[in-house]
Amino acid sequence: MHDLSIQDPEVADIIRQEEVRIENTLDLVAAENHAPGSILEAQGSIFSAKAAEGYPGRRFHAGCRHADKLEVLAIHRAKRLFGAEHANVQPHSGVSANLAVYFAMLEVGDRILAMQLSHGGHLSHGDPSSITSRCFHFRHYGVDPATERIDYDQVRDLAQSFKPRMIVAGASSYPRLINYEKMAAIAREVSAFLLVDMAHIAGLVAAGVIPSPVAHADFITFTTYKTLRGGRGGVILCRRNHAAKISRTIFPGVQGTPSLNLVAAKAVCFHLAQAPEFSELQQKTLENAAAFALEFEKRGYRIVTGGTDNHLVLVDLTSKGLTGDVAEKVLESAGIIVNRNVIPGDTRRADVTSGMRIGSPAITSRGMGPGQVARIVELVDSALVGRHQPSVLEQVSREVIGLCRQFPVYPAPS
Ligand SMILES: Cc1ncc(COP(=O)(O)O)c(C=O)c1O
Repeated sequence: MHDLSIQDPEVADIIRQEEVRIENTLDLVAAENHAPGSILEAQGSIFSAKAAEGYPGRRFHAGCRHADKLEVLAIHRAKRLFGAEHANVQPHSGVSANLAVYFAMLEVGDRILAMQLSHGGHLSHGDPSSITSRCFHFRHYGVDPATERIDYDQVRDLAQSFKPRMIVAGASSYPRLINYEKMAAIAREVSAFLLVDMAHIAGLVAAGVIPSPVAHADFITFTTYKTLRGGRGGVILCRRNHAAKISRTIFPGVQGTPSLNLVAAKAVCFHLAQAPEFSELQQKTLENAAAFALEFEKRGYRIVTGGTDNHLVLVDLTSKGLTGDVAEKVLESAGIIVNRNVIPGDTRRADVTSGMRIGSPAITSRGMGPGQVARIVELVDSALVGRHQPSVLEQVSREVIGLCRQFPVYPAPS
């Protein structure tokens, strides 16, 4: 840190400003979390400079003795944590992991059935804007318009008529559990592979507070920086018989040298995730999300699906005469960070939207509980209702800072 402030004070200052922003704002972005200092230390370690194309014992660079030890440890910990037969810890991100699974198991032009982005899916599940849709032929399933939950009968009908070679289960803004057993049965009926993308919920799965897809899916991809609270990056889990194809597709297929500093952080994250405190944290993450749903409902907001089973809540702003982009901007001006999100059947564009997505992981990591959630929702509502009154927004900002100070993300050493 000292070196940075001397060699590049400009960047050092931007980093310091970001630290201040993180400490003084409430992060309700469902895809984010506050990583512990040990993760940041591993990410910023000397391993960031090591080139190590290949895999432990089979590198294309010399000097990989410690890199090998590190990657073997990360793989071992990932397998043990999730009860998986094989783990590849090299994907740079969730999208890289998904790309690798598609290209390992399918031919260009093959059919994939996945969840519609506007119903909660992810760009890398064949959205027209993603390269995935240029390489594979996607069709999408959605949620039932009445229940706003996955319609498994529709998934089965589509699978039988479309005959995909792969079915993708997993989402970025679906607040309910996915029935992996049903998805696996549908995939088996049409001889398709089942890929579960658990990017958002990996921490909840690791802690055992929601069901795991491991027994049902052929492939599982996830990111380490969301509920799992690790560093940046992705992971692939699969059965032993697919390991060689997955390895070849990650390297040299879609990636070059792995980011060993991220592999180090992943190893730390898997270690921390098997501790009882981590399970408690994830249980509280669920409880806080449920509290968010309840508190918003009490204040007259409609909650998509009527509640949540995981770490996120999708709030429909229509009855409040607001759009997601307005809510996002107003709340950020008061120190509350959310993201606008389309809701099922949304008629508004993705940059406007009728909803906002609220996540509980980050505030739970800083030690907040249902009492603070109730207060946060009160502050959100005051800011949105009083959005045209600068004095109201100033008062909310002050209270946000007060709350943040009571729950520091990185407490100063005593
Ligand atoms: C379901 C899902 N898959 C994949 C990703 C992509 O992860 P990354 O941004 O690390 O590539 C995300 C990111 O939000 C996600 O929600």
